[in-house]
Amino acid sequence: MRASHVLYADPIIFADPFAASLVSYPWQRALKNPILHRIIFGVFMRPLLPIQGQVLARARFTEERLMTAIAQGVKQIVVIGAGLDTFCLRHPELAEQVQVYEIDHSASQQFKKRRLIKNGLGIPANLEFISANLERENLAHALRQSNYNPDQPSFFYWLGVTVYLTREAIFQTLESVAEIAGNGSELVFDYAGAVNEIPKEEQANIRLLRFYTERFGEPIIDNQFKPLEFTQQVSSLGFKLMENMSPDEQNQCYFLNRADRLRPVSGSYFAHFRLEK
Ligand SMILES: C[S@@+](CC[C@H](N)C(=O)[O-])C[C@H]1O[C@@H](n2cnc3c(N)ncnc32)[C@H](O)[C@@H]1O
Repeated sequence: MRASHVLYADPIIFADPFAASLVSYPWQRALKNPILHRIIFGVFMRPLLPIQGQVLARARFTEERLMTAIAQGVKQIVVIGAGLDTFCLRHPELAEQVQVYEIDHSASQQFKKRRLIKNGLGIPANLEFISANLERENLAHALRQSNYNPDQPSFFYWLGVTVYLTREAIFQTLESVAEIAGNGSELVFDYAGAVNEIPKEEQANIRLLRFYTERFGEPIIDNQFKPLEFTQQVSSLGFKLMENMSPDEQNQCYFLNRADRLRPVSGSYFAHFRLEK
């Protein structure tokens, strides 16, 4: 979705020139050929277009806050459920300045490593991979096996993952961040609000997404959080809420003046917390 956006959309919400190199070969072909691209993205994947809006906006929201944190001196970044995240590739100028830890399910991580190597991109020197299944393994424990320094403030981001995890794993991961992150660390993640915020026609898209993800063996879970209650629960772990960006606010910030149908996902929130120990 990031690759399709950077190749064909205007204006750009989030520019990721490496995304197309990381997807599998059939997707690369579909992306490179404008006619194939139009058929696949414009027809078959059309109901999933709102998800593309979310993928782009959450990346933009996070990177704006991450760059501010780096400018203020943060030197460690922890990407939870990193998938095909390309921060290190897009910011070689920060290679000496920041160390990045990507924590992900081993299957996703193996796929990414293969794509990086096969496409000649290589593994960035400031990137350390840590594999963990967050349903079974504790994030703090996984990080302790790496060079991560718990005494330094860090920036954690966790995008597009809470829809795959059980509530137990979500809260265990939040507790883990509170335990392992240094004072002043920041955390950004996205989550799904209550389903009654979602118009009926979009609920059909979510059912479609569930069908697709089940077919690919990685089903999304019907996690819904009431924003006020959830952010209070997270705050009770020691975090201070900085922002909880609603879909309307996402629209105002990132989607105005577009001729295409790109828009935020109804009911999806972007949360930004700071750890105060
Ligand atoms: C939709 S991708 C999001 C990737 C990336 N963060 C982004 O925003 O594009 C979901 C990610 O969650 C990870 N994930 C799902 N279940 C997981 C689990 N139980 N433990 C660890 N990672 C998991 C997947 O491996 C995948 O990288």
